[in-house]
Amino acid sequence: MISDESSSECYVYITLPGQVAAVTAGRFVLDKTTRGDAVGRFVYGRSYLNNPDAVEFDPIELKLSTRTYETTQLTGVFGALRDAGPDFWGRRIIEKRAGRTQLGELDYLLESPDDRAGALGFGRNQRPPAPLRKFNRTIDLEKLQSLAAALVKDEIPNDPQAQQVQDLMLLGTSMGGARPKAVVQDSEGLWIAKFNRDDDRWNNTRVEHAMLRLARECGISTAESRIEKVGGKDVLLVKRFDRERMANSYARARMVSGLTLLRADEAPQARQNWSYLILVEALRRVVEDAKSDSRELFRRICFNALISNLDDHPRNHAILAKDRHWRLSPAYDLTPSVPVSTEHRDLALDCGDQGRHANAKNILSQHARFLLDEEEANKIVNDMKAQVQATWYEALRASSVSTNDAETIRAAFVYPGFVL
Ligand SMILES: Nc1ncnc2c1ncn2[C@@H]1O[C@H](COP(=O)(O)OP(=O)(O)OP(=O)(O)O)[C@@H](O)[C@H]1O
Ligand SMILES: [Mg+2]
Repeated sequence: MISDESSSECYVYITLPGQVAAVTAGRFVLDKTTRGDAVGRFVYGRSYLNNPDAVEFDPIELKLSTRTYETTQLTGVFGALRDAGPDFWGRRIIEKRAGRTQLGELDYLLESPDDRAGALGFGRNQRPPAPLRKFNRTIDLEKLQSLAAALVKDEIPNDPQAQQVQDLMLLGTSMGGARPKAVVQDSEGLWIAKFNRDDDRWNNTRVEHAMLRLARECGISTAESRIEKVGGKDVLLVKRFDRERMANSYARARMVSGLTLLRADEAPQARQNWSYLILVEALRRVVEDAKSDSRELFRRICFNALISNLDDHPRNHAILAKDRHWRLSPAYDLTPSVPVSTEHRDLALDCGDQGRHANAKNILSQHARFLLDEEEANKIVNDMKAQVQATWYEALRASSVSTNDAETIRAAFVYPGFVL
């Protein structure tokens, strides 16, 4: 039962590199200023700081230090903590179980399962719980899929005693994003299962699978994926790159979103930092191999423009640390769109001198920030354009996207306004 009182403090745990059990790292308190604004305070515990294996939660805000960190941004929740919590989809499930919306920010962290992205965990006890061993399995997918469909259609009753509401526990996930999803396990490891929605305009799961393949053909490093057919419907399984299967449990990599790297927010008024140019500068400062990761980010921007993936918001980018070092995560959530305009399309983030314009000239205008000289940058854009133009259709068909769906999204690829 989710309590009616909002929580105001919790312990934060971390699973250190190479370990499978969590240790207590610090304490987070959510308070109100005298003006009534939320203020978050975080302090690393002394014993954690004395642990020679201790690592920072993120390389931006919460570096290892004895100080008390304080923030009034993001309703008081530090970026690295927010990234470990549920987003639209996971919150919806918690709200349905609680029978009300508008829970406290900390409640979403405490009420969501420990399948969260990255290495952090949250709890009310000083000692961390034992590592989670039981996950949904791929054979549970049919049940998860029908629960997700019922939730999308708002068919789940508002009665906490109803069986479907109880079953929502199974579907609950701390993974972010808005689309219906669950986390499942098989002999290879942990996967994010992404379900189609009945109101989708095309078979999203197959198209997303195809885009990951097309991105790889363009030289981009991506998450691994496969399609499972469940009860006559397709489910996309995306292999989690922040978990590694060990004998009995999982090693966890730390993971921080682009939103945290940008010190930004999702609120419309807090989007002034939504910029690939700021993102690449932040990335260069924190990753182990700045040159390689900056170039990789450049490729991803170009790819997003070439497939009209205009939902490339900062949470669709992340950095990952399997050991002490940070690096750009593999690409994920690559989805084409077909806006009406064939002349002008905008990415979600600024990418050059002309702001968000998803256009070759704009993308090339700030090549030096991506540690590329003009010739190299031109070659990447030219080659990727040729690759997408030549193989987008094949990539869709190889993932068994229907000819009908392929025609519906044809206008996403190399739209006329991209030019070169
Ligand atoms: N392969 C992966 N391994 C680990 N974490 C991942 C992986 N893919 C995605 N994530 C995390 O899960 C979140 C949700 O995934 P994804 O972006 O695919 O979902 P979505 O619902 O389609 O998102 P959106 O709301 O952007 O449409 C991401 O923001 C990222 O934090
Ligand atoms: Mg996403």
